[in-house]
Amino acid sequence: MSNPFDMVLFGGGGDLALRKLIPALYRAYREGSLAEGCRILPVCRHQQDADQYLNVALQALQQHLRDGEYCNSIWTGFSQLLRPVALDISVPDQQWTHLSDILESDPERVRIFYLAIPPGVFGPCCENLSSKGLISKNSRVVVEKPLGYNAQTSNEINSKIASYFPENSIFRIDHYLGKETVQNLLALRFSNVLFEHLWDAKTIDHIQISISETVGLEGRAGFYDETGALRDMVQNHLLQLLCLIAMDSPNSMTAKNVRAEKIKVLEALRPLKGGLVDKNVVRGQYVAGEINGQKVPGYLDDLEGGSSATETFVALRAYIDSWRWAGVPFYLRTGKRMEKRCAEIVVQYKKVSHLVYDESAGNVVPNRLVIRLQPEESIRLILMAKKMDSLTTELQPAELNLTLSDTYDSFRSDAYKRLMLDAAANNSALFIHRDEVAAAWAWVDPIIEHWRETENQPKPYPAGSWGPEEANELLARDGRQWFNAY
Ligand code: BG6
Repeated sequence: MSNPFDMVLFGGGGDLALRKLIPALYRAYREGSLAEGCRILPVCRHQQDADQYLNVALQALQQHLRDGEYCNSIWTGFSQLLRPVALDISVPDQQWTHLSDILESDPERVRIFYLAIPPGVFGPCCENLSSKGLISKNSRVVVEKPLGYNAQTSNEINSKIASYFPENSIFRIDHYLGKETVQNLLALRFSNVLFEHLWDAKTIDHIQISISETVGLEGRAGFYDETGALRDMVQNHLLQLLCLIAMDSPNSMTAKNVRAEKIKVLEALRPLKGGLVDKNVVRGQYVAGEINGQKVPGYLDDLEGGSSATETFVALRAYIDSWRWAGVPFYLRTGKRMEKRCAEIVVQYKKVSHLVYDESAGNVVPNRLVIRLQPEESIRLILMAKKMDSLTTELQPAELNLTLSDTYDSFRSDAYKRLMLDAAANNSALFIHRDEVAAAWAWVDPIIEHWRETENQPKPYPAGSWGPEEANELLARDGRQWFNAY
């Protein structure tokens, strides 16, 4: 359990706070991870009294917690930690006294400023914190992606924050890194002897990393239409997963060592520029379709009119120019309104070098390691085995299946909870360093630039599908196919 800390949630009435952060803090409280005396200070733009905010928070919890997680008596205890503050940080000369009085009543304790607000107001917010004297030696700032719109704006935002907080007090969240199975990727790779020798171009044919979502814009049309799938998902979550899959072993699991290995991967990504973008990247945008038997509107309808060339789907082929990965394609894919919600990494091994069985054995399928991050969490190894009870030597694929969701209490698993507690404990291993953000943008920017220059239009795909046909062709050209979630 941490020492008591103060967590100031700027954007306390916003979507992120109500959907993710308040439920995560409730879970932390429920499991006893918040020390007695912790104070959570949601800062809301709109004038509302404490009771009004508590009502909103309660509704959000009832809506977003999993079945069985909500309990009246836990809420009663948790709600005592919530100390809402009404303050519009975008308006000059606001009274910060309420916030300041609470914080200054215990100046020594750890203060976490969580900026769940648009990046455009990070600067003014930090400036105010500084001018009001609220940045103590024990203060940390947590910032959410997207950190900027491209390399330049991201750099500007990072520089602005850096003028108020030292790098080791800045916690940049990529919530994928807080997911149990994502951390398990490192455990799988670096605490088992089995995989390291089978983790390179000699044995691996290719790797697929997919994050498919069934949801659409979820009330974030304005933000999403300016952002698009490449910035929203690839620049951060998918590239982080790619790093964890592709990186060399760090000397130890310190934040510094892990980061150094991740940056090496990002820097070795072969640039996709000009015509290479057209050959290697597919953009899509959903049109009306059906998901789980329910009709859903297309992207333009979700935007409520107008035209838009924003992509809601991206599939791409990337290469990492290093000894380990020379010639191994990494296929990355993400999209909204797809057939299933699933995040999965598939490591496809090469065929056996020499086939000793004749045709009667059937098709010998290459081994495949499938790491599913969500909705359920599992690691499956597809092997060939003899068909049982058969007098022939017929072979068939069989699975070694480790379903992690069966072996631990899923109530405990919450990426935001983990990351907020880590920030409170000053543990930055699962956060992104400024240099990683910069390296990721440096790779993504030329793709966007090429789309802009060529006025690229996204390919339509029906909601409820696996994306545009062009995404299948991207792999088919290499004689491969996507392994869609079963
Ligand atoms: C966020 C994106 O970072 O991740 C959203 O902004 C996306 O558009 C979300 O829906 C997906 O997260 P998860 O944990 O639900 O896979």
